[in-house]
Amino acid sequence: MTSSKATPTEEIPKYKLIFLGDQSVGKSCILNRFMNDAFNEEYQATIGLDFQSKDVLIEGQKIHLLLYDTAGQEKFRSLIPMYTRDANIILFVYDISCRDSFLHLTDWIKESSNAKVDEIIFALAGNKNDLEDKREISYEEGKKFAEEHNYIFQEISAKTSDGFSELFNKKLFDKIKTKFNPAGKKPKTEIKNDEQIKIEKQKGKKKKKCC
Ligand code: GTP
Ligand code: MG
Repeated sequence: MTSSKATPTEEIPKYKLIFLGDQSVGKSCILNRFMNDAFNEEYQATIGLDFQSKDVLIEGQKIHLLLYDTAGQEKFRSLIPMYTRDANIILFVYDISCRDSFLHLTDWIKESSNAKVDEIIFALAGNKNDLEDKREISYEEGKKFAEEHNYIFQEISAKTSDGFSELFNKKLFDKIKTKFNPAGKKPKTEIKNDEQIKIEKQKGKKKKKCC
């Protein structure tokens, strides 16, 4: 009898990416563009949280991205620390045509202060850069904020897909490669299911017996 050599899905490095930012800045549209290369003009507020996942290849190494699209509405704010606690990547989003959404970034940073800062990739996206005539935040202002916080920065448009390739395929995936080294090791904050935890506990017990 031959056994299958296929890589179990649990062995694919998993990274949890959280979208944070004010209501209506375009988080769900960014996710929709990233997942389906599509855009919806109609606003449908996210209730609580939406979750999707996608496998991507970074220089031949498959990784599993877990994408958490949070709700910007104030009434869901208390849920945020629960999602950011074990995040690997946090993408803060503001709307370049809405100064308030930029000013509120400091609140979103506070909301995510329980994240393991040293083990995390932070990025900032100025969305809706197709709305040039309504612009309230200059490119330089966004970039300066990101530099001060040591975040990846990119202006994007979920509507036109401008900047998506630069943000995801280049800046973010490059950073995942250098910071997490998915080809060489698993992320420290790897998400484990109950079965994995049980197996590891059993292994630990066995080790103690023989020493
Ligand atoms: P919450 O779920 O309430 O937190 O909002 P959100 O951040 O998920 O915003 P959403 O993606 O639902 O988008 C809000 C509105 O902005 C929708 O009407 C979108 O069509 C519009 N929108 C999103 N991205 C863009 C963009 O890049 N350009 C333009 N012009 N409109 C956009
Ligand atoms: Mg949404």
